[in-house]
Amino acid sequence: MDLGIQGKGALVTGASSGLGFAAAMRLAQEGAEVVINSRSEDRLKQAAHKIENATGARVRRVALDLTPDGNAEKIAKRAAEQLPNGIDIVVSNTGGPPAGLFLDQPKERFSESADLLLHSAINLTRALLPGMLERKWGRMIYITSIAAIQPMEDLLLSNIYRAGLTGFCRTLASTYGMHGVTFNAVCPGYIATERLKELAKARAGSSGQTVDQVMATFAATTPAGRVGQPEELASIIAFLAGTHASFINGANIPVDGGKHRSLI
Ligand SMILES: NC(=O)c1ccc[n+]([C@@H]2O[C@H](COP(=O)([O-])OP(=O)(O)OC[C@H]3O[C@@H](n4cnc5c(N)ncnc54)[C@H](OP(=O)(O)O)[C@@H]3O)[C@@H](O)[C@H]2O)c1
Repeated sequence: MDLGIQGKGALVTGASSGLGFAAAMRLAQEGAEVVINSRSEDRLKQAAHKIENATGARVRRVALDLTPDGNAEKIAKRAAEQLPNGIDIVVSNTGGPPAGLFLDQPKERFSESADLLLHSAINLTRALLPGMLERKWGRMIYITSIAAIQPMEDLLLSNIYRAGLTGFCRTLASTYGMHGVTFNAVCPGYIATERLKELAKARAGSSGQTVDQVMATFAATTPAGRVGQPEELASIIAFLAGTHASFINGANIPVDGGKHRSLI
């Protein structure tokens, strides 16, 4: 299926590894002009080379931390400057916040996590939405978590700020949906990345299990009987980015092998 994104400009943040990397790879495979972002220039360069080798596409880079005030705007500007027709597709993503229960979290971690998970996405949107509205076409795709659908006790910070981002995404879908721009969130369950290994280590530390035992539990508590692969999320992101998804707006799409148990 041709997704209709040949030549569209796409910015993927948090893209040197994991879910962001897989999304950037998939968009490049579909012919989008991709700019990738993460904090580490070295990791980003390696990621760009991998995508270029696999697809033959040119991949642009902006190495900058998304969280400090003003950086999301700088990333948006530097990305847009590298593409002749600006940014049509944004995949908004960063690393995850530390796991832990409420009383384990120092006070400053709440504002840090708000910057990481919520303000970065809001500021990126503020910087890039006007261009999409002008061109009457755009795709804002936010990587959140199934924690935004079904909160998990030791992912308090994720539960709080992804819920906020979900409200933001849903509101913008209503406010701007008539201008050809869609706003959707994808909600990964357990997907095999560096972040999942970190989470397994944190749970092993607090439960007395080994990391392998925790990883086995992730798979066993997922109805699919396994954890997901980053490419399985990337395919949904690419579909949402394309022309066939033009009537999907304000959705919160779980990609979790059946893990969350809510009815809606
Ligand atoms: N994997 C899962 O099972 C799962 C499930 C639910 C939700 N999620 C969420 O989905 C998101 C992506 O997860 P992942 O598994 O792909 O994580 P990951 O493997 O840790 O990758 C995170 C990516 O974000 C970049 N990054 C981190 N902080 C950044 C910042 N401040 N500014 C710019 N880039 C930043 C990292 O690169 P640099 O180090 O180069 O900056 C890396 O490329 C996270 O928010 C995670 O919590 C993941």
